Amino acid sequence: MQHERILPYFAKYIESELGIVYAEHNYFQLQNRLEEIAKLLSVESLEKLYKLAETGITGQFKQLLLDLATNNETSFFRDMKVFKAIENLVLPGFLQNEPSGAEMRIWSGASSTGQEALSLSIMITEWNLRSPKPIRYSILGTDISERILLRAKKAEYSQLEVQRGLPTPFLLKYFQKNEQDRWTASPSITKALEFRKQNLLDPFEFAGKFHLILLRNVLIYQPLSNKIEILKRVTEKLAPGGVLILGSGESLLGLSSDYSQTAYEGAVIYLKKGTQQSVA
Ligand SMILES: C[S@@+](CC[C@H](N)C(=O)[O-])C[C@H]1O[C@@H](n2cnc3c(N)ncnc32)[C@H](O)[C@@H]1O
Repeated sequence: MQHERILPYFAKYIESELGIVYAEHNYFQLQNRLEEIAKLLSVESLEKLYKLAETGITGQFKQLLLDLATNNETSFFRDMKVFKAIENLVLPGFLQNEPSGAEMRIWSGASSTGQEALSLSIMITEWNLRSPKPIRYSILGTDISERILLRAKKAEYSQLEVQRGLPTPFLLKYFQKNEQDRWTASPSITKALEFRKQNLLDPFEFAGKFHLILLRNVLIYQPLSNKIEILKRVTEKLAPGGVLILGSGESLLGLSSDYSQTAYEGAVIYLKKGTQQSVA
């Protein structure tokens, strides 16, 4: 069978499962990834992989396909402006509007290998060290990729990864270097973290609402109708006065009218409308 028929077949599968659209000009990338999967499954060729798919895409095959279709690019304190806005607007707003001692619940909605959640944890830990009003907090990180979630749970990073965005004083304070020259995050910043699998296209099964939701650099891969639908369900998971943050190149324009927007030194944050604003 010609690749011209195999590649659209897998592209269609990935779109239906993940919402991620492979444009035709990116088929070479899809082909490389399918060849990697074939190798991992000890299947000789793309034709044989296609035959296998026809008998059903399940188990390891399905997970590999979903894993390889996603882009897991992330880094510590990615887009520092956003962390400054959280520190200067969102944390004070939370303290102002929530009863003393309340737990701040945060959801990192496409957490990748965990750097976003760990950066938030470091930031709040540092805040608590200098503030007369410490904040109790928990951070739920979710992602579609099991392989990536295993890495997030392990909280172990290469030299290159910690060099990307993590200030050296935080590296030395919150990470230990192991014998393989990799850096492991200390329990003081991992203890408030939990990582779980969640496809954003599926219903959100977890209980309770969040005060802050980060949904950064993930909606860009979705077609318009999925973006609108995901945002509608995300909004339902946001507590009254809650805050939503998207990636720096993303906006809610034409996607949701449930928010008002505010900016802090170039970072945009979205406040859920119709409720007491939690941002100071
Ligand atoms: C580019 S990373 C962004 C990571 C982080 N939010 C950041 O901005 O640095 C996108 C992440 O979204 C995840 N992802 C892609 N499609 C998803 C879906 N349908 N449901 C949940 N996670 C998804 C990928 O596995 C990947 O880890």
